[in-house]
Amino acid sequence: MDIVTTPDSVLPIVLKAMERTTDPRIRTVVSALTRHLHAFVQEVALTEDELEYALNFLIAIGKESGDTKNEAVLLSDLLGVSTQVALLNNQDPQGESTAALLGPFWRANAPVCQPGENISRSPAPGLPLEVTGVVRDQDGQPVADAAVDVWQASPVGLYENQDTQQEDMNLRGLFRTDAEGRFHLRSVRPAGYPVPTDGPCGELLRAQRRHPNRPAHLHFMISKPGYKVLISQVFADDDENLESDPVFGVTRKLIGRFAVAPDGKQADLACEFALEPGEMKFPHPPIP
Ligand code: BEZ
Ligand code: FE
Repeated sequence: MDIVTTPDSVLPIVLKAMERTTDPRIRTVVSALTRHLHAFVQEVALTEDELEYALNFLIAIGKESGDTKNEAVLLSDLLGVSTQVALLNNQDPQGESTAALLGPFWRANAPVCQPGENISRSPAPGLPLEVTGVVRDQDGQPVADAAVDVWQASPVGLYENQDTQQEDMNLRGLFRTDAEGRFHLRSVRPAGYPVPTDGPCGELLRAQRRHPNRPAHLHFMISKPGYKVLISQVFADDDENLESDPVFGVTRKLIGRFAVAPDGKQADLACEFALEPGEMKFPHPPIP
């Protein structure tokens, strides 16, 4: 009889009940999740109070998420799950992947920009930054006419949607690669910034004695029909938090060189990205 008797009898009965799941991928993923959850509960001998706390934590994640903040994405990022998924799904057979987590601040429909255009459209005292990049395929050949979507925080470490001083879509832009796979834009050097700490994820960071400060970076999303969408970030090589990014997004390949001119009046950044063949599928924007 499939009747629960002891703690060890629960899981087999639960898994059997799930066997009728028609979609094979849902069956695999949810069954594995259930097995790991039961193993976790047994390993830590989870108490009733702790289960109640965990469920309230999930409710708080939902309640705190809205038009300017996505605590669900943030939780996945802070647990290292987003980076794990990004690297697992974007392995470069010829080297290290240039993929990274999306983060909670990508917005769709960034302003279309001309080559060399400045995406800093609100007064932002900061070091002018010139970014050049090249997009190649897995054979090292240039990828022409790829869309390069860029977004970044300001020199005070705020995205435009977090800051009433910046105009809508400031420090966001959509560029295209030329026949040699190159793109070029102007901006201001971003500052590092804390991930949002005013919700349940902040509570988690404080409990774990972890600081919230991401190293300074620019985000990129590169796409062209026939290739997988590449989500990437490039980090400032002189940032003190490169080895303690709260969302574990810094990989060796993504540390860029922010070369400051001898007169200290401008920085240059050159980046390279590799696209994998595949379906061009965009993520849903975490915020509108
Ligand atoms: C970001 O880089 O925009 C970001 C990524 C993860 C968590 C919070 C912010
Ligand atoms: Fe960011």
